[in-house]
Amino acid sequence: MSSPLADKNIVLGVTGSIAAYKVADWVRALKRDGARVTVILSKGGARFMSPLTFAALSGNHVYDDMFAITAAEKIPHIELAKQCDLLLVAPASAGSIARMAQGLADDLLSTVALATEAPVMLCPAMNSKMYLHPATQTNIARLEEYGYKVIKPEVGAMACGDEGPGRLPEWHVARNAIFSTFVPQDLAGRSVLITAGPTWEPLDPVRFLSNRSSGKMGYALAAAASQRGAKVTLVTGPTALPLPSGVNSIQITTAQEMYDEVINRYEGIDVVVKAAAVSDFRPDSQSTQKLKKSSTTANTLTLQANPDILHTLGERKGKCHYPLLVGFAAESENHIEEGRRKLREKNLDLMVVNDITGTDCGFGVDTNRVTMLDYNDTTEELPLLSKEETAHRVWDRAVRLLNG
Ligand code: C5P
Repeated sequence: MSSPLADKNIVLGVTGSIAAYKVADWVRALKRDGARVTVILSKGGARFMSPLTFAALSGNHVYDDMFAITAAEKIPHIELAKQCDLLLVAPASAGSIARMAQGLADDLLSTVALATEAPVMLCPAMNSKMYLHPATQTNIARLEEYGYKVIKPEVGAMACGDEGPGRLPEWHVARNAIFSTFVPQDLAGRSVLITAGPTWEPLDPVRFLSNRSSGKMGYALAAAASQRGAKVTLVTGPTALPLPSGVNSIQITTAQEMYDEVINRYEGIDVVVKAAAVSDFRPDSQSTQKLKKSSTTANTLTLQANPDILHTLGERKGKCHYPLLVGFAAESENHIEEGRRKLREKNLDLMVVNDITGTDCGFGVDTNRVTMLDYNDTTEELPLLSKEETAHRVWDRAVRLLNG
């Protein structure tokens, strides 16, 4: 699978909100994901942004007039409505939302919205009082009834100085929602629990034992599952990544905390994916004061084993395949044999093994090259892929196992 947006036609309606400048970058990002972007600039949108900006970034003609004489034989609103795989209105101003909710066909964007059979997604962005006004809320509720997907605005400081809901969401939030339109909804109705990142095992208030896990693989798995319709719980160690949108994220620090959260939450979960790099050991004792060089007499650090979370789940699961248990193993040698051993010993259904000796896979980087081993003794080797794509391939496999 390449990008879910590859060769998709996204019609982007840009309306009159100061956030219009932010979506110039979205056009580039959509193109990077393989989409073709055509912009409709409303009258209000054109007060904030020049058509030239969007033409240059999209590489396409920018439409702003329903009655344009140029290419009139093509009837722009019908052409755009037909060719469109997704109508994305971002930023969606209060006025454009009202127009669409009323079914007014008094400008090109509201007309395309009426004429298209493609899904419609809105990113409202406006002053928070305007957003919270019952008229806007009623209009949004009506559009949701029509099946439009509305991405909630973020809460924060407005351009005008007010605080509240009304900010355009970050790109990664919108991107997740856009992807969900184009990926199979084969995890709808399923609950999944994913662990990600490293754990930190404190030695004193400033030092800890950890590993090089960035959390990227686990976060990609959480985002992919959410795009595919799952209810996602992410138990994450400390990472530098933004928490994925639409996911219930629980932040922990130590392996023991991860253990407690997973054990308390896994009942009723359909799939547990343990992508976290859990520290196998923790210091025997944790000093409340910073350890001094002078007070350290020995060169020995005594450790004790952390609980193996996946092993515990495997033991509890016994002979059945529910919940489906998916493990990850980062290995530097004999990775297939090691993966099979861990699959067996931890009583897993699927083991995803990666060889960490390459520079393009494993810790920290955006790509991975994994082999999937399952309880049926099947081995599937994946090529070098982005972690995002790897995540979808892991879910493809997990869904097949889940559906028996
Ligand atoms: O560390 P190891 O290679 O055994 O990890 C294999 C799998 O077991 C991973 O999915 C990891 O998240 C999980 N694990 C765990 N608890 C531990 C150690 C590893 O759940 N204490």
